[in-house]
Amino acid sequence: MKLIKKVLFAALVLLVSAGTVFAGGGSQGQSGKTLIGVVMPTRSEERWIKDGNAVKEGLEKLGYTVDLQYSDDDIPTQVRQIDDMITKGVKALVIASIDGSALSNQLANAAAAKIPVISYDRLLMQSPNVDYYVSFDNYKVGGQMGDILITGLNLNQATAAKPVIIELFAGSPDDNNSVGFYQGAMDKLKPYFDNGVLTVPSGQIERTVIGTLRWDAAEAQKRMENLLSAYYSGDVVLDGILSPYDPISLSCLEACKAVGYGSTPGKPLPVVGGQDCIVASCKSILAGEQYATVLKDTRSLGAATVTLVDTLMQGKTPTGLDTSSYNNGAKIVPSLLLDSVIVTKDNLKAAVLDTGYHTAAELGL
Ligand code: BGC
Repeated sequence: MKLIKKVLFAALVLLVSAGTVFAGGGSQGQSGKTLIGVVMPTRSEERWIKDGNAVKEGLEKLGYTVDLQYSDDDIPTQVRQIDDMITKGVKALVIASIDGSALSNQLANAAAAKIPVISYDRLLMQSPNVDYYVSFDNYKVGGQMGDILITGLNLNQATAAKPVIIELFAGSPDDNNSVGFYQGAMDKLKPYFDNGVLTVPSGQIERTVIGTLRWDAAEAQKRMENLLSAYYSGDVVLDGILSPYDPISLSCLEACKAVGYGSTPGKPLPVVGGQDCIVASCKSILAGEQYATVLKDTRSLGAATVTLVDTLMQGKTPTGLDTSSYNNGAKIVPSLLLDSVIVTKDNLKAAVLDTGYHTAAELGL
C-alpha cells in the first residue's frame, strides 16, 4: 500500500504548472481522439505485456487512442514501428527501447514534428531528443540485488577463513539499466570482496564480461553450465549467484540442478535473487528454490507514464522531476524514478498477492 500511495503522490506532483511545451491535443486517431504511440521491446517477456497493458488501458480511460506495438526484440522492427507512428501523426511517443542508442534518427524526426518522447523504463541514449524518462531508481534496484545476497548468504556472519563462493551475471550491454543494476549491486558487495568474505572462482567480474545480450536466459544458462564445469569440480560448491533478471535466475538454477545442486548432500541450491517478480519466480520462491526477486510494479510505472502524457497533452509542464541523475550522453533527461521492493518467501503474500500484482490462481495457490 505504501508503494502505491507513493506512486500516486508522484503522479499528482507531475500534474502541476503552466506553459505550453508541446502541441498536444490536435492530432487525432481513427476514432477522432488524440493518438499516442507506445512501443514495447518484446511480447515474450511477462513484464512488458503488463507494462503495455497498463499504459494503454490508462490512456484509453482518459480518452486517448493508443497505438501499442511490440518489437520482437528486433531493432529494425522497432525503428519501423516508430517511423510509422510519426507518419500517422501520434502526439506523443512512449518508447521502451531494445538498444538504447539505436533510435537517434527516429528521435530526431519526432523532435522535428514536435512530438514529445518519453523514455519508458530504459533510457534512450546519445540523443538530445528525449524529453522525459520514467523508470525505477535503477541504482537502488541494483542495491537491492546486492542486499538479497548479503541477507540470503548471511555475509555479515561469514569470514574470510571460509569464503562465500558466488558467480555474477549482468543484463544486456546495450541496455543502460544494466549499468545501474550492476553498479548498485557491486557497491553493496564491495566491502565483502575487499575483506575476503566473497570470492568468484571464475574471476569473471567486469560487467562487460558477465553481460547477457538481450537478457537471453538460454545464453545465461549456457554460461552457467560452462562455469560449473570449468570451475566447480571437486569440492568447490557454488553458494550464490548475482542475477539481474528472473528468467536468468531460473535458468541458472536449472543448470545447477542438472549437476546435483539441491539433490546432493552438501550441495544446496545456491542463493539467487532476480528482478521483475514474474509468476514462475514467485512459484519458485514459494517452493524454496529462488531466494528472492525485486518487484518493480508495472502498474505504478504505467500510471506515472499516463499522468505524464496527459500533463503534456494538456499543454502543461511537469514538475517534481529528478533533473540530475540520468545523463544519456547528450543531455540530462528529467526523470521520474519509482521505488522497488525486495520480495522473499516472507513478504510475498503481502507484496504480491494482497496488492493484486499476481492472483492466487496465477501462482497456483
Ligand atoms: C528492465 C528489467 C527487465 C529487463 C529485461 C530492463 O531494462 O528494467 O525490468 O527485467 O530489462 O527485460
